[in-house]
Amino acid sequence: MSARFVLLSVLSCSVGCSWPADRPLDLQSPTLSVGTAAPAEGAAGVPTDVVIEVGFDGWPEAPVVGGAVRMTAGPQDVPVHVAVDLVGKRLRVTPARYREQPPRLLDPDTGYTVAVAPALRAIGGATLKQLFVLKFRTGLGPAGGSSARPAPGFALVWRDVVAEAACAGCHGAGSPLDLSSEGAAYTALRKSSVPGDSARSLLLRLLVGTPDAGGTPHAPLSDAQLALVRDWLDSGATP
Ligand code: HEC
Repeated sequence: MSARFVLLSVLSCSVGCSWPADRPLDLQSPTLSVGTAAPAEGAAGVPTDVVIEVGFDGWPEAPVVGGAVRMTAGPQDVPVHVAVDLVGKRLRVTPARYREQPPRLLDPDTGYTVAVAPALRAIGGATLKQLFVLKFRTGLGPAGGSSARPAPGFALVWRDVVAEAACAGCHGAGSPLDLSSEGAAYTALRKSSVPGDSARSLLLRLLVGTPDAGGTPHAPLSDAQLALVRDWLDSGATP
């Protein structure tokens, strides 16, 4: 494909493509604010296997700097594992001891506090406006169910994202980024991937449109399609 054609497609896209109404174009803001959090502030009876989610109006930078997220039970520090979900613009916080063998849950009937400090940085340089604090109390046990994250293979990404969104319309055979077949697309997209770390993968940053990767979504993908790419990357970007 000639450079001129690519340029024309991009230009025509900028007037002809409609982005999903629920994903407004983000203007780069110098500060970052908390949008939603789960469990809710003051919640009681929270399952002991809860994953704490804190959502923002921008994309947290990965990896999250040490000490930006703290969890305490009374005077005691509870070590946490913090993951960035670029698709949901949120942090997923789990007690580090979930990863112990055998995994250990939060203590039942205990008050916990999660604090996110202004040290938290967003992609593009914004920092958290003010300290965010969330308090909740656990119930008597886990909710159960499977906490395992999905681990889709590339076949699904090919079918539901690359083929479905017609990426090859611009990235055809012979172009620098060949997305015209499943095999070629796998090789090409692995190059902009950090296997096991979707938040640091250029591919996902480009597709959601973080400020460092253009600032607008690269192709109009649905949240389900973006989540599929995220889960493929997080689970190791396997064939
Ligand atoms: C409207 C045309 C167009 C569509 C559709 C399109 N792209 Fe792109 N894409 C471009 C242009 C232009 C560039 C920048 C030049 C380049 O690197 O080829 C680019 C760059 C990229 C890059 C960065 C390449 C690099 O390493 O720098 C990736 C990855 C990418 N596109 C993936 C995709 C995926 C996946 C899809 C489908 C979901 C897609 N693109 C759909 C036009 C398009």
